[in-house]
Amino acid sequence: MVDLSKVSGLPVKFDPETCAISFGDELRDPLYGTRELDALRPVLESPDCSGPEIVYWMYRNLRLRGDEHLLSTHRLRYDVSVFVSCMLGREPMKTSGHYHPPVWRGGPAYPEIYEILYGEGLFLLQKVSDYLAGPDRVEVQDVIAMRVKAGEKAMMPPGYGHVTINTLEVPLVMSNWVCADFNSHYQSVAKCRGFGYWLVKNGEDLEWVQNPEYPAGLPPLRFAEPRPMPELGLEPGVPMYSVCREQPELFAFLLRPQDYEEQMWKGVAVREPAPAPGVC
Ligand SMILES: [Fe+2]
Repeated sequence: MVDLSKVSGLPVKFDPETCAISFGDELRDPLYGTRELDALRPVLESPDCSGPEIVYWMYRNLRLRGDEHLLSTHRLRYDVSVFVSCMLGREPMKTSGHYHPPVWRGGPAYPEIYEILYGEGLFLLQKVSDYLAGPDRVEVQDVIAMRVKAGEKAMMPPGYGHVTINTLEVPLVMSNWVCADFNSHYQSVAKCRGFGYWLVKNGEDLEWVQNPEYPAGLPPLRFAEPRPMPELGLEPGVPMYSVCREQPELFAFLLRPQDYEEQMWKGVAVREPAPAPGVC
């Protein structure tokens, strides 16, 4: 078992061979869910591909004894997810992808903050004109790819739906803090067969290809790097569970994104100009 307590701030152990995870006795029992391959088929380039029955595990609402107020008072939920390493057709393992609803009608959408605990995550962020619209009406306004290593944080800014991809040959473990007051929206992503770009293996290389289910066309893919967000308490190597436990007020950006736009975007450094096609 690999000890993830230093990187996560919680007594977490993980077995990369089996994807088994242990949270020890100090953590309150998390709600547990799985995502099966069959549920992912609608967003895949090759919906009929073979693969593992369970592609990822989601452990929701983890907290140490005594930290119940983080949810009950501050409306903040901490989750851990475990993703296998596998190929789904030509695509490395990816999540179904979802959008968050706006905080109020016409307002900014809820953001989310991820932390890589083991492995490496490649995030695809997509902004659309209407997150409820299907392929006949949707207009994609921006797509950003960002690779994030263990200990680093990945900001999902308001208005950007997100897909997580595991391109390594080891599993990916990551955590998130998010406002507990909303449900994510998956249906429009499934109707469009995923986000605008698919990452596929071509020979030995990975390359981004356009998803043809967006007939209105796509903007060029942009690439970003994760950066520290010191005003939000988000620094590489500092577990964000521990930071939130000590200073939950720093995570108010998850509930009131309208007040923190500049601080959140410091975490997503878009590289300009875009690198050559095929770079990921
Ligand atoms: Fe999310």
